[in-house]
Order: sequence, then structure tokens, then C-alpha cells
Amino acid sequence: MTRQQKTSWESSAKWYDEAVGEKGHYYHEHVIFPNLLRLMGLAKTSDPKVLDVACGQGILARQLPKGVIYTGIDISPSLIQSAKEKADKKHHRFLVQDATLQMVLPERDFTHATVILALQNIEGVLQVLKNIHRHLIPGGKLFIVLNHPCFRIPRQSSWGIDEAKKLQYRRVDCYLSPLEIPIQTHPGKNDAVQTLSFHHPLMSYTKWLKEAGFVILEIEEWISDKKSTGAKARMENRSREEFPLFLTLVCKHSDLV
Ligand SMILES: C[S@@+](CC[C@H](N)C(=O)[O-])C[C@H]1O[C@@H](n2cnc3c(N)ncnc32)[C@H](O)[C@@H]1O
Repeated sequence: MTRQQKTSWESSAKWYDEAVGEKGHYYHEHVIFPNLLRLMGLAKTSDPKVLDVACGQGILARQLPKGVIYTGIDISPSLIQSAKEKADKKHHRFLVQDATLQMVLPERDFTHATVILALQNIEGVLQVLKNIHRHLIPGGKLFIVLNHPCFRIPRQSSWGIDEAKKLQYRRVDCYLSPLEIPIQTHPGKNDAVQTLSFHHPLMSYTKWLKEAGFVILEIEEWISDKKSTGAKARMENRSREEFPLFLTLVCKHSDLV
């Protein structure tokens, strides 16, 4: 097994496919897609053509406005098979590809590329970004949705309660060091099934984007829309509004590489 295949969600494919379902998991549906589709502005683009990298079981394809041409790639054959079974449009295509290797895609005219909740599951971010750059039109946009790398570092960040101040705070135990963190995908059911998460500080992403030929146009930080009830509701709701779950980078393909 190569290092890259180790990051595939093949062994978690059945569970992940069911967790995402037809409409996406809670955060796909309530936070990510409403915001991402607003930023992508597909209705304002003539002949939009989307490349979705590490597409999983193809959830983005099912959110797109009619007529948008779409290609989804993922390293997991089972997730790509599931994406094909759910697909209902002739102009949607799904391919098994390792995003860190040169893609077997003839097109260099994608107007939009996305990497949704997946760049932190791939080892070799720079290579992925360079590959995407090769297939976008000059000026094309790349949208990267990350678990917020400053506040959500698996095993290294958590909530705590300050009783004196009556507030819930976010504790971050380390940040600058890159980390490789094994994650149990569905604890309890089959403890042996793991995926890998790679933590990098924000400056690593900006450095790699620049090196791959992208400029960052915009950064958005998205919070959860959930609301607590009960005794701790006030402090929980406040901290939920202060600490974003997701960081989204809107980048533009630049010729100046
Ligand atoms: C958390 S899932 C996200 C999938 C999808 N974007 C979504 O939002 O449902 C991460 C995905 O990254 C894929 N992946 C991991 N390493 C990869 C690689 N080297 N090339 C392509 N896909 C990869 C996994 O197979 C998995 O489908």
C-alpha cells in the first residue's frame, strides 16, 4: 500500500456513504453548501465547469444548478462507484484518481475547482494544488473548505469551562508543528477502521498556494448554526458563535508561477 492509498477512505466507504447520504451530513447541508454555492457564484459564470477533488460519494454534484458540467475525482473506488450510482446527469462524471499524482484528465478548462473537507486527509497538499492548477483556466477559482486549522486540531484542541468567568473557552494545545493524526471514523462499530488527518498551520497553506500558482482572494470562517438548550446553553451558544468550525479559502489561478 502506498502512502497515498493509506489516506483513502475505502475502508470507511460504506459508513461514510451512509453518513453523507443523498443530501449530505448536517454540516454539508446547513453550513457548507449554502455558503459554498453563494461564494462559487455559478449562475454568474458562462459555461461553468467544476472539478471536485476528493469528491467522496459525489455530494457536491447533487447540489449544483442544472447544466453545470462536473467532474469528481477520489482515490476510493467504492465511493466513486456510489457517486456514479447516485448520479442523474449525463454531464456529471466520476473518476478514481489519486489527487497527488498527475491526473489523467485531458481538460484544462475547468472554471471552478473544489476540495471540500478533504485537503486535511491527503498527504502532499502542494502536489494536489499543483495538479488542480494544471486543469483550471487562467483566472479560474479554487475553493478549499477546511476544518478550521487554528481551532480544530484533532486530539490537540478541546472545550473547557471557566467557572469564574462563566464561559466556555477553546483550548489549543499545539498549533505550529505539522501533525499526522489517526482518526477512528466510526468509534464503537469497528475500532480498527481509521483514516488519517494531517494538521498544518495556516501559513503552510498560504505558502503552498503561492508556490502552486494561486492567489488568495477571500477567507471566510463559518460557524455552526446549532443551538444549545439547558443549563449551559448561554455559554455554549456564545462560544459556538466565537469559534468557527470551518475555514474556506477562495483562490484564483494566477499565470505568474
Ligand atoms: C472527509 S472525505 C470528504 C469527501 C467529500 N469531499 C465530502 O465532502 O463528502 C475525504 C475524501 O478524501 C479522499 N482522499 C484521500 N486521499 C486522497 C487522494 N490522495 N486522492 C484523492 N482523494 C483522496 C478520501 O477517499 C475521501 O473520500
